[in-house]
Amino acid sequence: MNDLAHSQAAPELQAPEQAPAPQPAPAPAPAAEPVAADARARPIPRINIQAFCEDQKTAAVLQQVSEDRRLSKAHVTVQMGGIEAGTAFYRNAPTPNLIMVESLHDRDGMLADLERLAAVCDSGTKVLVVGHVNDVLLYRQLMQRGVSEYLVMPLTASDVMMSLSAIYSDPDAEPVGQVVAFVGAKGGVGSSTVCHNTAWAISETIETDVVIADLDLAFGTAGLDFNQDPVQGIADALISPDRLDEVLLDRLLSRCSDHLSLFAAPGTLEQTYDLDPGACDTVIDVVRSNVPYMAVDVPHVWTNWARQVLMHADHIVLTAAPDLANLRNAKNLIDKIKSTRSNDAPPLLVLNQVGLPKRPEISVREFAGALECEPKAVIDFDAQLFGTAANNGQMIEEVSNKAKAAEQFRDLAYLLSERTEPKAQRTSLLAPILSRLNLRKAGA
Ligand SMILES: Nc1ncnc2c1ncn2[C@@H]1O[C@H](COP(=O)(O)OP(=O)(O)O)[C@@H](O)[C@H]1O
Ligand SMILES: [Mg+2]
Repeated sequence: MNDLAHSQAAPELQAPEQAPAPQPAPAPAPAAEPVAADARARPIPRINIQAFCEDQKTAAVLQQVSEDRRLSKAHVTVQMGGIEAGTAFYRNAPTPNLIMVESLHDRDGMLADLERLAAVCDSGTKVLVVGHVNDVLLYRQLMQRGVSEYLVMPLTASDVMMSLSAIYSDPDAEPVGQVVAFVGAKGGVGSSTVCHNTAWAISETIETDVVIADLDLAFGTAGLDFNQDPVQGIADALISPDRLDEVLLDRLLSRCSDHLSLFAAPGTLEQTYDLDPGACDTVIDVVRSNVPYMAVDVPHVWTNWARQVLMHADHIVLTAAPDLANLRNAKNLIDKIKSTRSNDAPPLLVLNQVGLPKRPEISVREFAGALECEPKAVIDFDAQLFGTAANNGQMIEEVSNKAKAAEQFRDLAYLLSERTEPKAQRTSLLAPILSRLNLRKAGA
């Protein structure tokens, strides 16, 4: 609902009230009709769906939809309170991939309510509206504002299932997932560490599903960093990419937490791997059509496949340490990336391992000046913190959530997911003014 999210809704000038605890939805009505009708509906990706209903009957239908096999990978919650409860809730919480809201109002009332919801909606969130008026003009106005679908009660679970399926299998729609490629300017500069911690932070802070793909097949450490038993995961997928679909993907992923899964590398020397660029593309496409975020840990190599993975990603995070070799390599990489991707934002630079005692270093200012690129994070060298995390198979935040590095990974997560500030801070006095200037969600 990008248009709606960036519409010029008049901001409320009073401080937003505390979000009421949403009421749980009732148990499904026993008389609700079975969903069986539409075996053709496609499975829904691993997205978050949150519904705010007005009517118990609607809640019962949506509850029934949430139990459908095709939604088994999605995280669905059904609550009461309609658009108003949703709007209050999202003032302090990130918006999911899809919001379903019910309105009992007519055209004007519904549009006004949706404007308020739009003001707290993150970009990329889709909205499906359930209403009680069959009004073509209203339908058109909703579509113009970026609403994905308008459904009129009474509805069956099967109707809703078909609509969800249509939203997510529309070939013209943007893919569900964003791909973020992480690469180091040199080996050992902490690119994998930045990749794993940032991916973990995305999965924790915005509570959305993330897959980490470790493309360092022989030496990758993602499995170790998340304390997972060795799995073949990604090697199998890359060897026979055409077999990969959502079912096989599920078997090859190892789950680290509620929202984070790993496409782990074997990390053994039994085989050599000369990856095929086409195979990498196919695997990334399957993951991105099923999962909202994919963090690709690209090893420090310059091969056809590695270059292609970087150049095809939605975002690139380049990690460098403050020495001359890093500076030269970072400069070359940034120039190459900028010239190949002239319509994209430049790579996001992270300076890592800064301030190692007794090591002569290039200053952050000089480094940034030479690259004409400001680092988005400057992470201190901290052998104790990073060494403990690596040896325990933990993330930095799990070792110490007060550590500056933990906060820096959270900031990178917000930046990459275009959620630029924690919602709690949005209730600042400036929030209404920023919103009026239409800057709040635009990353200003
Ligand atoms: N800021 C840091 N301070 C201290 N050690 C770090 C820091 N960042 C990463 N490391 C350590 O550096 C080593 C190499 O990190 P890794 O992420 O594997 O690098 P890369 O993927 O770039 O080769 C790891 O042992 C990691 O724990
Ligand atoms: Mg690495």
